[in-house]
Amino acid sequence: MLSLWIELYEKLSTRLSLKNLRDSLFSLMKQDLVPQIHLFRMAAPAVAQKARAGQFVVVRIDEKGERIPLTIADWDEKEGTVTIVFMEVGATTARLALLGEGDSIADFVGPLGIPAEIKKFGTVVCVAGGVGVAPVAPIARELKKAGNKIITILGARSHDLLFWEDELQSASDQMIVTTDDGSYGRKGVVTEPLKELLESGEKIDRVVAIGPVVMMKFCSLTTLPFKVETIVSLNPIMVDGTGMCGCCRVAVGGETKFACVDGPDFDGHKVDWDLLAARQRIYLGEEKCAYEEWQKSHPSSRS
Ligand code: FAD
Ligand code: FES
Ligand code: MG
Repeated sequence: MLSLWIELYEKLSTRLSLKNLRDSLFSLMKQDLVPQIHLFRMAAPAVAQKARAGQFVVVRIDEKGERIPLTIADWDEKEGTVTIVFMEVGATTARLALLGEGDSIADFVGPLGIPAEIKKFGTVVCVAGGVGVAPVAPIARELKKAGNKIITILGARSHDLLFWEDELQSASDQMIVTTDDGSYGRKGVVTEPLKELLESGEKIDRVVAIGPVVMMKFCSLTTLPFKVETIVSLNPIMVDGTGMCGCCRVAVGGETKFACVDGPDFDGHKVDWDLLAARQRIYLGEEKCAYEEWQKSHPSSRS
C-alpha cells in the first residue's frame, strides 16, 4: 500500500530545479507584494498545462520539508509558469519566503482539487479577504470571461496588507474596498457592503467568498436569509492533497467530505464552520514551537 502511495505521489510530482530550468528560459520570479505576502512565479510546465481557476498545488521545499497546499493564483500555459501567492504565517511559509531566484524546491504537485464552477450565472459577487485575493482573482477573471457581471468586495485588515487591487479591478464591473481600520477604502468588514448589495434589490445570482474561515462563515450567514447560493473555498489542514490521508476532512450538509478531492469549493450554507475552525487549530502548539525555533535560528528574517 505504501509503495503504491509513493508511486502515485511521484507520478503527480513535478520535480523542479529552478537553477537548471533558468538556463532554458524558465526562471523563478519573486515579488514581495506586501511585507508578509509574497508572490512566486514558478517554472512548472506540466502543472501550467492543466491548471484551472480554483485549483491548488502541494509544495514541499526539500525532502524533509512538510507539504503545504497553496492556491494556483495564476498560470501561463505557453510560458509554462504557475504563480503562487502566500502569506508568512509559520515555519514553512517563512522558509519559503527566504527563497529567491535560482533556488530549487523538491516538489510542486498539481493541479489538485476540483476547478471552480465557471459558467454564466448572471451577477456574481466575489468577496476576497486577506490572502484570499489570490484565489479569487482567477475565478473572477474566468467568471467575467463567461459573461457574468462581477461585483468584487476586497477586504483587508489595513491598507498596507492590501494587494492585487488592480488585478481584481480589471476583472470587475464594480469594486468595493474595505479595511478594518479605515486606512483605505471603506472602514469596516466585507459583510457590510455584501448585506447592502443583497438588500439593494439588485438580483445577485451567486456569491463566491474566499478568505479566513471566520470571513467565509459570516459571508455565508449574511447571504443565507436572501437564499443566494454562496460558494466558499475551504482551507483545512492538508497533507497529500490527493484524498489518501483523510486529514482534510470537513463536514458539509451533515456528510464527511475530503476538501482536497471533493472541494475545495463547497456550499457555504452547509459547512460546519465550528468543526473546520477547531480542526485547523489541532496542531497549534507544535506549529508555534516550530515557528519559534525557526525565528531563533533566523533572527534576521523576523518581521
Ligand atoms: P504553520 O505554523 O504550520 O500553520 C499555521 C496555520 O496554517 C495552522 O494553524 C493551520 O491552520 C494552517 N496550516 C498549517 N499546515 C497546513 C497544511 N498542511 N495545510 C493547510 N493548512 C495548514 N495560504 C496562502 O498563504 N496562500 C494560498 O494561496 C493558500 N492556499 C491554500 C489552499 C488550500 C486548498 C488550503 C487547504 C490552504 C491554503 N493556504 C494558503 C493555507 C496554507 O496552506 C497555510 O497557511 C500553510 O500551510 C501554513 O504553513 P506554515 O508551516 O507556514 O504555518
Ligand atoms: Fe489527505 Fe485530503 S489532504 S485526504
Ligand atoms: Mg507548518
